[in-house]
Amino acid sequence: MVSESDVDESAETDNGGRRRTLWAVSDLHVAARGNRDLVDLTVRPENPGDWLIVAGDVAERTSTILDTLRSLSEKFAQVIWVPGNHELFSRSSDEVHAAQKYEELVKGCQSMGVLTPEDPYPRFAGRTIVPMFTLYDHSWRDPLVTVERALSAAEGNGVVFTDQVAIAPYVDVPLWCQRRLGYTVRRLSTVSGPTVLVNHWPLVREVTARLRLPEVALWSGSRHTQDWPVRFGAETVIYGHLHIPVVTEVEGVRHVEVSLGYPRERERTLEQRRERNLWPYPVLTESAGEEAG
Ligand SMILES: [Fe+2]
Repeated sequence: MVSESDVDESAETDNGGRRRTLWAVSDLHVAARGNRDLVDLTVRPENPGDWLIVAGDVAERTSTILDTLRSLSEKFAQVIWVPGNHELFSRSSDEVHAAQKYEELVKGCQSMGVLTPEDPYPRFAGRTIVPMFTLYDHSWRDPLVTVERALSAAEGNGVVFTDQVAIAPYVDVPLWCQRRLGYTVRRLSTVSGPTVLVNHWPLVREVTARLRLPEVALWSGSRHTQDWPVRFGAETVIYGHLHIPVVTEVEGVRHVEVSLGYPRERERTLEQRRERNLWPYPVLTESAGEEAG
């Protein structure tokens, strides 16, 4: 969908020498009670040059997703979006499903200047920001158990993702994942210097150790991205999906879960995160006159 080697150098010098911050959020779930108002109230720039990462699960309906991104892009100098599983949901009565829905969302984002995993990678404060879309392939499971058995065992324990009825009937998700991994690794291979990797699903399995229901890992990533953070120079990996907003260091790389989550989840953590200036999460700040390295 896009040319291969493509880091957009032009975007970096656009701050007019003022302090600016790259913020990150995910899992806004604006259709959930109170979430849209909270996003309006709390996801705001501090300075006019600030950028915002939105790491998936804005909502389910195309119009709601694009309206939310439009409103954020009117506030921030640059918005970067990657899809989550909820963006890919559809019903049988919908006109577009899965991959076509993704393409529709990408077009909508591009028409309003929101960057997607199909666009040249922008640079911020000397780092290449890499929006990614890699899905999952059920490979975070016991290697001695087949995918089918792992999924049916999860179902037996009462763990079934909505993805199974809202994505899986319309596309072979592991195959799509495999293609996305190939596309992403080819583009990453052209990048040099420090990176910030952005993906809805986590990239390393360690962060799933906090899951209350370990079966959720089946829908949460792929073993094939395990070495990417180190291999592709990541300082920070921004992800969401698990609704467990924590920072985990793995092999010297900071993995930050930046979800808002559903009302009961955010009510447990949001106040503390706001007090500690961790919501929205400040990924990078560039001060006035600072040379980006
Ligand atoms: Fe979510």
